[in-house]
Amino acid sequence: MREQNRNKNQEIEEILEQMDLSQPAPETEPMRQYWFMKKARELVKEQSEKLGRPLTACTTTFGCQMNARDSEKLLGVLEQIGYQEETNEEDADFVIYNTCTVRENANMRVYGRLGQLNRVKKQKPHMLIGLCGCMMQEPEVVEKIKKSYRFVDLIFGTHNIYKFAELIVTRLESQRMVIDIWKDTDKIVEDLPSERKFSFKSGVNIMFGCNNFCSYCIVPYVRGRERSRNPEDIIREIQGLVADGVVEVMLLGQNVNSYGKTLEHPMTFAQLLTEIEKIEGLERIRFMTSHPKDLSDELIEVMKHSKKICKHLHLPVQSGSTEILKKMNRRYTKEQYLELVRKIKEAVPDISLTTDIIVGFPGETEEDFLETMDVVKKVRYDSAFTFIYSKRTGTPAAAMENQVPEDVVKDRFDRLLKEVQSISAEVCSVHEGTTQSVLVEAVNDHDPALVTGRLSNNILVHFPGEKELIGKIVSVRLDACKGFYYIGTRV
Ligand code: SAH
Ligand code: SF4
Ligand code: F3S
Repeated sequence: MREQNRNKNQEIEEILEQMDLSQPAPETEPMRQYWFMKKARELVKEQSEKLGRPLTACTTTFGCQMNARDSEKLLGVLEQIGYQEETNEEDADFVIYNTCTVRENANMRVYGRLGQLNRVKKQKPHMLIGLCGCMMQEPEVVEKIKKSYRFVDLIFGTHNIYKFAELIVTRLESQRMVIDIWKDTDKIVEDLPSERKFSFKSGVNIMFGCNNFCSYCIVPYVRGRERSRNPEDIIREIQGLVADGVVEVMLLGQNVNSYGKTLEHPMTFAQLLTEIEKIEGLERIRFMTSHPKDLSDELIEVMKHSKKICKHLHLPVQSGSTEILKKMNRRYTKEQYLELVRKIKEAVPDISLTTDIIVGFPGETEEDFLETMDVVKKVRYDSAFTFIYSKRTGTPAAAMENQVPEDVVKDRFDRLLKEVQSISAEVCSVHEGTTQSVLVEAVNDHDPALVTGRLSNNILVHFPGEKELIGKIVSVRLDACKGFYYIGTRV
């Protein structure tokens, strides 16, 4: 078990020791899952004794930060039940794909890799293959796997990921394909184990699901209705993380600006941030994603005065055309978006803004596209994720007429990317020569004499340093801008 998660996972370990497997599994969560973790541990131990070596598991994550955080929870359970982490899929005894379905190409990648896994499993019949995440919430996907990928052992969705231990036990005891998908849930199960990827920073879910139904987007269908965690649970989790050495948290939600609306005692996202700011030992707070329609003046005010909230805002615009935004059901106009950006820049002058843009939404004309280019030029984003519109079955946009021809979309996409990149290089370089605080994240991939750290505004800087600096916040002078990152010196 990695050092950093000792506290939480150690607590769970102690509860597991008390658990009596001769009694039936408890009905309430998380106790029920603890019981199954202990049960699974026995089954895993049996198999590992047969093989004469520890069992290993490999988790591959597709998609967004939500999925990345979910995978840490999967790994937490796997650790508890006795699997060791393996990074090479072909060598693992248990392979899990935590899938994404936001665009068609995410799905294609999963099918492609499953084909390869089938070959590996033929050589290694005891190998388990598990599929979970957003793609599994689509009934057609599950049908296809049941028909054409019979060698898969375990399929579950986004709503019952907390049942992972129970599902593993069901699979190991039945020797048959186990499928458990829920349509939706209003349940949030707290206090499950997790294995963090980084010792010094962590994602923290503040809410689940999405109620916005942007017309192109499948997320509300696969992640269910919006529900917020209780502020006390969030604060308690962050306090625990800080005690474990975490200095930076990323608050996660599909639309963090609508946090708290569904709580018994409603509170705003800005109020939650104010509470989190008070946590001693926590140095940096990030969050994503912000929907422009719900970004309040109260939040801007809190960001303006905060010492811990990072100077970075991801504010997806999707399109610059008011006409297209309306068809996308985004519920703001081009002018409202630009006004919002103006207010934010006025309140927090050195903020870095990033965005998501979709090109080729049904009915997008050249004029609409030029409106998007205009927003890009006016806002001058630090960076932008640009996507080609992908038709998602079941969403309103999939049934819209005037789908834009592929060559037209490709041409617009290339023009947009060029503009975004050239602005991004200019914007990045404005900090050249300044000294900034940097959270050191890793030894540089290409040069072991360098370490890589992140500025408050999310830009990376490489500078001479040793691995002992990882997780520390240090002052670095930004000597030279190399497009979208810096080379610096510690001061
Ligand atoms: N909740 C976040 C985004 C989640 S999905 C938000 O509202 O901003 C991440 C990004 O994927 C979206 O911002 C959008 O730009 C892109 N996206 C979603 N559905 C898409 C689709 N059908 N085709 C192309 N890009 C899409
Ligand atoms: Fe999708 Fe819109 Fe919800 Fe974001 S806010 S997840 S784009 S529906
Ligand atoms: Fe993908 Fe699901 Fe995230 S569809 S983008 S992994 S919420």
